[in-house]
Amino acid sequence: MAGKRKLERAAALGGPVLSVRDLKVGYGNRVLMRDVVFDVAPQDIFFIMGGSGCGKSSLLRVLMGLAEPQSGSVNYGSSAFWPGEEETRYKVMRRCGTLFQNGALWSSMTLAENVGLILEQYTDLDPEELRRQVVVKLSMVGLAGFEDFYPSEISGGMRKRAGLARALALDPEILFLDEPSAGLDPVSSRQLDELVVELSQSLQSTFIIVSHELASILSIATNGIFLDADSKRMAAKGRPQDMLTDPSTPPVVMRFLTRGGEGPMPGLPSGGKMANVHAGGGI
Ligand SMILES: Nc1ncnc2c1ncn2[C@@H]1O[C@H](COP(=O)(O)OP(=O)(O)OP(=O)(O)O)[C@@H](O)[C@H]1O
Ligand SMILES: [Mg+2]
Repeated sequence: MAGKRKLERAAALGGPVLSVRDLKVGYGNRVLMRDVVFDVAPQDIFFIMGGSGCGKSSLLRVLMGLAEPQSGSVNYGSSAFWPGEEETRYKVMRRCGTLFQNGALWSSMTLAENVGLILEQYTDLDPEELRRQVVVKLSMVGLAGFEDFYPSEISGGMRKRAGLARALALDPEILFLDEPSAGLDPVSSRQLDELVVELSQSLQSTFIIVSHELASILSIATNGIFLDADSKRMAAKGRPQDMLTDPSTPPVVMRFLTRGGEGPMPGLPSGGKMANVHAGGGI
């Protein structure tokens, strides 16, 4: 894939996979976020964090070419994305995979059909090769043998993994996941984290993940940004684990990362501050 080689060259030269500069995101006259500046390096597991409604999904939609920023620029390797040509955005997105926040699979289609649909749309594989690819993708997420099941016949965690298999269909260099663990129990959520780390290593893909799942953020993020709804700006960037020990980390970020506490998360139930248990809830 020529595009892939191009990004691999960028990576070999030490360049970022994605560069965002002075980005302003919003709708109509309403600004959600301004002055957004960050780079994502190859194979980063990059988290976009922040309280509910601050504009994380909206930023992701801009990064995926589904919405235009109010101003600023987005570049993938050496490809100008925003501002940029529609054709360039299409080519870049062809190298990306997405698991949306409401991650719906088509309920009237089997898992194999759900994954296969993307391959049918974007490739000209013959039916036999297409089926083979579908089986490979589903087995990568631990769903070998479930090809002919319908979404309603599997658990929530399995549905998330099936969504991930669909996002993996085109061997993406970059995967966007919006709240992948929402609605999952802690064990399934951790299994999904492990799968992300495994895939980032085996496929050498870069992950850009929107999440307020602290356990995931603190265990697998290699880099990230925190968006603050009040100031409508980034309040911190870097590896979330490092933010916890960095004295310059703003209180709003510290409160998020410690679920409302002042320091590293205390042992619950006796030591923890329980007043604001929903991370980011009051932010
Ligand atoms: N298509 C749209 N048109 C106008 N406003 C929108 C649109 N999509 C989202 N918004 C508004 O933008 C704000 C931010 O929404 P967004 O979904 O980006 O937040 P979020 O940080 O992802 O929240 P959550 O954590 O709850 O998923 C919300 O107030 C929302 O109502
Ligand atoms: Mg969202």
